[in-house]
Amino acid sequence: SRPVLVDGFGRAVTYLRVSVTDRCDLRCRYCMAERMTFLPKAEVLTLEELDRLASTFISLGVRKLRLTGGEPLVRRGFMDLFAGLSRHLRSGALDELTLTTNGTRLETHAHDLARYGARRINVSLDTLKPDLFRELTRGGDLARVVAGIDAALAAGVAVKINTVALKADNAAELPALIQWAHARGCDLTLIETMPLGEVDEDRTDQFLSLKDVRRELSSFWTLEDIQHATGGPARYVRVAETGGRLGFITPLSHNFCDTCNRVRLTCTGTLHTCLGREDASDLRAVLRGGASDAELRAAIFAAIGAKPQGHDFQIAAPRPAVARHMSTTGG
Ligand code: GTP
Ligand code: 5AD
Ligand code: SF4
Repeated sequence: SRPVLVDGFGRAVTYLRVSVTDRCDLRCRYCMAERMTFLPKAEVLTLEELDRLASTFISLGVRKLRLTGGEPLVRRGFMDLFAGLSRHLRSGALDELTLTTNGTRLETHAHDLARYGARRINVSLDTLKPDLFRELTRGGDLARVVAGIDAALAAGVAVKINTVALKADNAAELPALIQWAHARGCDLTLIETMPLGEVDEDRTDQFLSLKDVRRELSSFWTLEDIQHATGGPARYVRVAETGGRLGFITPLSHNFCDTCNRVRLTCTGTLHTCLGREDASDLRAVLRGGASDAELRAAIFAAIGAKPQGHDFQIAAPRPAVARHMSTTGG
């Protein structure tokens, strides 16, 4: 059987998230600053390099691969990368190949994603109000995202909606978002906003504890705890009234680091062993230094061995716990 990556706390790493670009066609206010500088092309791994790194992780026991960004679908050649990686699904080495997307280009790509084995994808959506969507994303068109979600569903790909709970922007709209998702047969997960990178707003003004949100939703809905093991961090309930699944991702109010199974690779080949820490290993240097497969594996083993116990997020801190933006690590 395959070797397995195990960290110093006995956690097996079986889930790799790969950010294929730091660029995005939206600029969500909680994610990016108004002015962002993007990476020059020479810094960014080629599609071949991304494939080699991801495939090396798969040879080390990774069973779930999620491509992220920035926005993954703005990366030129994305579908070639995805199609290439789908060989690991067919060989049985991978259980899941998928992506997290903002949905703006999903209508164009839904059919190919289905064709290359995506069974369920995650789409970010924080409001159903077109004007608020435009304002939150600094210019995005809600109709494109809805068309993308519908195209994915029509192609037979299940969609999980990701909604960051934002006190000042969508707190009152959360029940409507949940009903909308469930009416389409989509799961929805609520996410606590995390302090990564300086943005132009004060996160303390936006932070909502999902403990409080759950209590509020329970005052008019019946929420039944259920098991739904996706390999991700959400804890799920069934909403009896809608019949749909609702997940809570609560890094701040209920830390889930003790069961963490994930690491992240950025588009520059930096391995971050925790979303909420500065720890980083430069796999690009190893790769471009002409490393053999064995040397590359050894570098990965060393990094995983030093995976920290957990994040250091605090909302009411003068600076974000992590200096890099969410768009660098892909969430
Ligand atoms: P599935 O469970 O497979 O649907 O995926 P997911 O929810 O893990 O992935 P997605 O990309 O949709 O991420 C949703 C949110 O969860 C994002 O805000 C991520 O940053 C957050 N998230 C995922 N893994 C972790 C983690 O290990 N730690 C923290 N703090 N947040 C995480
Ligand atoms: N805190 C929590 N979630 C965030 N996302 C982006 N920035 C943040 C943040 N600061 C979400 C996106 C997307 C997912 C990958 O992460 O909305 O759904
Ligand atoms: Fe882009 Fe996603 Fe960040 Fe929004 S949250 S700006 S869609 S990377």
